[in-house]
Amino acid sequence: MKMTRSQIIEYLRDPRSEKGLWKRADETRGKYCGNTVHLRGLIEFSNVCSRNCLYCGLRRDNRKIKRYRMDRRQILRFAGEIAAAGIPTVILQSGDDPSYRTGTLCGIISAIKRAYPFLAVTLSAGERPLADYRAFKESGADRYLLKHETVNPGLYARMRPGCDFKRRRAILEYLRKTGYEVGAGTIVGLPGQRLEDLAGDILFMKSLKVDMAGIGPFIPHKDTPLKSCPPGDLGLTLRVLALARVVLKDANLPATTALATLDGRKGQILGLGAGANVLMPNFTPALYRKQYTIYNRKKFVGMREVLKTIALAGRIPDLNTPGAALILHRVQP
Ligand code: 5AD
Ligand code: SF4
Repeated sequence: MKMTRSQIIEYLRDPRSEKGLWKRADETRGKYCGNTVHLRGLIEFSNVCSRNCLYCGLRRDNRKIKRYRMDRRQILRFAGEIAAAGIPTVILQSGDDPSYRTGTLCGIISAIKRAYPFLAVTLSAGERPLADYRAFKESGADRYLLKHETVNPGLYARMRPGCDFKRRRAILEYLRKTGYEVGAGTIVGLPGQRLEDLAGDILFMKSLKVDMAGIGPFIPHKDTPLKSCPPGDLGLTLRVLALARVVLKDANLPATTALATLDGRKGQILGLGAGANVLMPNFTPALYRKQYTIYNRKKFVGMREVLKTIALAGRIPDLNTPGAALILHRVQP
């Protein structure tokens, strides 16, 4: 059954119907995605960012964090760890860091694909010239994650000075045309965001036919202009997630680290029960991870935590065991 905009808004407004909504989302997830939870091994390869988003601790004007950039050798090492853990997908994530040249990133992508042909490569490196996205695709990148953040153009412009929603949308459409599996997503609870906006976010992702949707609560960061704003509401975030599942049907929806930051393991278990089917274990080494402070008290969710969460949720991890066996074979001939 199709959900209209006004029905979506009604569900968002009214927490009393949320148990029923979660159940409906859980059934939709079971029908379209099955019981496995997909894993994505995350490498936060640079915390350098040329933008100044009001909500984000990596923003250019935050002088308090130590900036780092991984080189090709380091990135390949962590990709190897992800492959060895039997995880079928790596996500390479960074701020909008233009110091990585197109050719450098292409070289890293193709080296990962050469070494671990069974690893899907997802990039999440922000806005770049359109020609870069094509070059990355030709080097072997499979997916691109670029959260649209909010579909409300006024809010978008306020939250992301110097950026505009039209360009974001054009990039997402270009990525789709270039053959990527495309991920978008939204932050729930940005100051000034309305329920209509969140309904718009879900319908926008539907019209874009996204393959992935990252939905997480806003969490304030102490060294940003939004430091005194309240965090996004857990219940509302779960309702957005569940509605996204009902509307987007077979899209991949992570139970985000931001959910774990709001409410620990329980937050992610609730997410898995409200439509989510993806978890993203972090493979960034501790030293760098501490500097990748998008928001405060960011929870560390590594492989052990992820496997435990999946078991507690009564689900099954989707592990690439033949791939893992291949790696073990390689390092121990
Ligand atoms: N709270 C929640 N999510 C945030 N992001 C950035 N800052 C915050 C915050 N304070 C998310 C954005 C961005 C990704 C890198 O992290 O959605 O796309
Ligand atoms: Fe940079 Fe992304 Fe943070 Fe904005 S949200 S400051 S683009 S890392």
